[in-house]
Amino acid sequence: MYDFKIEAADKPTLYSDLASALEGLMAGESDAIANMANASGLIFETLPDINWVGFYRNVGGELVLGPFQGRPACIRIPFGTGVCGVAAATRKVQRIDDVHAFPGHIACDSASNSEIVVPLIREGELLGVLDIDSPKHARFDAEDEAGVVRLAKIMAGRSSSEP
Ligand code: SME
Repeated sequence: MYDFKIEAADKPTLYSDLASALEGLMAGESDAIANMANASGLIFETLPDINWVGFYRNVGGELVLGPFQGRPACIRIPFGTGVCGVAAATRKVQRIDDVHAFPGHIACDSASNSEIVVPLIREGELLGVLDIDSPKHARFDAEDEAGVVRLAKIMAGRSSSEP
C-alpha cells in the first residue's frame, strides 16, 4: 500500500516532497504506462485545487490521451491545437491563467479555468506532455511551474521507449 500524506508549509517544499515521492514510486520500474498512471494518481491526490491531471503521448506526431485522473478527456489532439497542442508544437511550458481566453482551447471539463502543460523531452525527443487543470483562475504560479517542470523531468527520465 502506498499512503502518501504530503503536507508542506510552502510550495517549494511541497514539490520537493512530491518529486521524492514520485521517484520512490517509479524506482525500479520502467513501464511507461504504469509510471504515468501512478504519477497522475500521486499528483491528483497531492496538489490542492486541481480537477484533472494526466498525460498526452506523442504518437506519430499527434497527442494521444494517456493515463490520467479526472473526467474523461478528448483522446487525440493535433500539435498546435489547444493548450496541450501548443505546448507540444513549441516545446514550451504553457501556464494559462484563464483557459477561456486561450485561442483554440479544448474544453474537456467545463469546470477547468486555469491550466499548466509541460512538455516531456528526453534527448531532444518530445515524448508527450503533462497536463494539470484547475477550477480556480490563475491557480498555477511561477513556483508551481518550477515544481511541475521538475516532475516532468523525472517522468521523462524514467520512462521507457514511449512515455
Ligand atoms: N484543455 C486542454 C485539453 C486537454 S484537457 O484539459 C484534459 C487543451 O486545450 O489542450
